[in-house]
Amino acid sequence: MALEVVILAAGKGSRMKSTLPKVLHKLAGISLARRVVNTATALHSNKTHIVYGHAGEQIKSVFEGEAINLIEQVEQKGTGHAVSTALPSLDIKNKILILYGDVPLLSAVTLNKLISESQSGLSLLTVNLDNPYGYGRIIRDIDNRVRAIVEHKDTNENQRKVKEVNTGIMCVSGELLSKWLPQLSTENSQGEYYLTDIVAMAEEEGIDIATVQPEFSYEVEGVNNRKQLVKLERIYQQVQADQLMAAGVSIMDPQRFDLRGSLEAGTDVCIDINVVIEGEVKIAEGTSIGPNCIIKNSTIGRNVEILANSIIEDSVIDDACIVGPFARLRPLTHLMTGSKIGNFVETKKTTVGSGSKVNHLSYIGDTVIGEKANIGAGTITCNYDGVNKFVTEIGDGAFIGSNTSLIAPVVIGAKATTGAGSAIHKDIPASSLGVARGKQRNIDTWQRPVKADK
Ligand code: UD1
Ligand code: MG
Repeated sequence: MALEVVILAAGKGSRMKSTLPKVLHKLAGISLARRVVNTATALHSNKTHIVYGHAGEQIKSVFEGEAINLIEQVEQKGTGHAVSTALPSLDIKNKILILYGDVPLLSAVTLNKLISESQSGLSLLTVNLDNPYGYGRIIRDIDNRVRAIVEHKDTNENQRKVKEVNTGIMCVSGELLSKWLPQLSTENSQGEYYLTDIVAMAEEEGIDIATVQPEFSYEVEGVNNRKQLVKLERIYQQVQADQLMAAGVSIMDPQRFDLRGSLEAGTDVCIDINVVIEGEVKIAEGTSIGPNCIIKNSTIGRNVEILANSIIEDSVIDDACIVGPFARLRPLTHLMTGSKIGNFVETKKTTVGSGSKVNHLSYIGDTVIGEKANIGAGTITCNYDGVNKFVTEIGDGAFIGSNTSLIAPVVIGAKATTGAGSAIHKDIPASSLGVARGKQRNIDTWQRPVKADK
């Protein structure tokens, strides 16, 4: 039987106190809704539906062009009503998995168990809580069979003591669902259509209701406010850090480590405190990342040293390079083997050849540097005339004197040298010296101004 996933996300999320709908808030860099959709994809869902209620335009713009069916539930009359709103879009020959848009960390392992246990027609994901306050309780008979779910507000004193609660996540046969949904009523303390009432209907029909518990209890935790969101964020960061450490990565303090995306790291990679990794990052074995670095969508080779406070984005760094401290590699920087970028150096759309060095206080943009070149402190490529960008080429073994302005387009030949403080706007042939600065005069009659006596 094929699977369809219905994600309930019509709740307003007013406790977030935000103009952004709750399910678009991010956990580890990815929105709650996207996380749940990704989980549905991992389960090979045939079709995924999101029931939304508020901020439809914002939700639509996120999923535009994707094979996600967005269904508006204009008025929120309960979880049963939400699923009924989706019913016309469902192929009832399929199994239907109900997920919540604000429960972001459910694993495919747990859900696959839930799906495979749904053979009888209905399986529920339940969890035992020390403090079950607020949740629907799982009511079982003396043979331990599930008889009903009773919402917290509808419980009697005995039922309130039950610690096994409904997570809201369930897998149900489409045919049974379509039969049961029209029978829901609003006769309860909240005057809502409770999806959970289908449990009593299943019981009446003698259906053996299966229950499955999650592998980890954090998987079923929902987000209602920012405090819960940040709690789940830290749990998730710890899970990611644990996985990396198990794979041979050192993380100096997992509580000061943030991975917002994916990190493929080799053995003996060492990550110091307060490092943020975003997007897709690869770091090969033996490389160390100093404290306070941000690395986004980049690939870093083996035995590289990224020193403290460096920011690296959309860049490629080959083996044995040294970067930082305080370096900023902007998009399309490529550092070739053994090259070095030092403090207060900014690069953009630049290739630095093997063994070349840009050690201090430079801006190098739209530039190709050959091998073993030395770029002196304070060198600036003047790559932009206000309208167009121009390229600077620096040959192998070139030596750029300190404080040179390279006014692009310009080509510095192999082993050429520039005099310190030069503004170079003409190409320099190989092995030549280019000097372009005012001649020095010494004035021996000059007198320093003196302060007038009082
Ligand atoms: C629900 C369950 C309860 C369970 C709890 C777990 C019911 C009747 N109760 O209660 O047994 O213990 O979740 O968290 O199902 N939603 C809609 N449209 C609506 C109402 C809700 O899309 O009209 C969505 C919400 O956005 C949310 C989810 O459904 O993602 C659950 O709704 P919520 O109001 O939080 O249900 P609870 O009362 O907490
Ligand atoms: Mg709730």
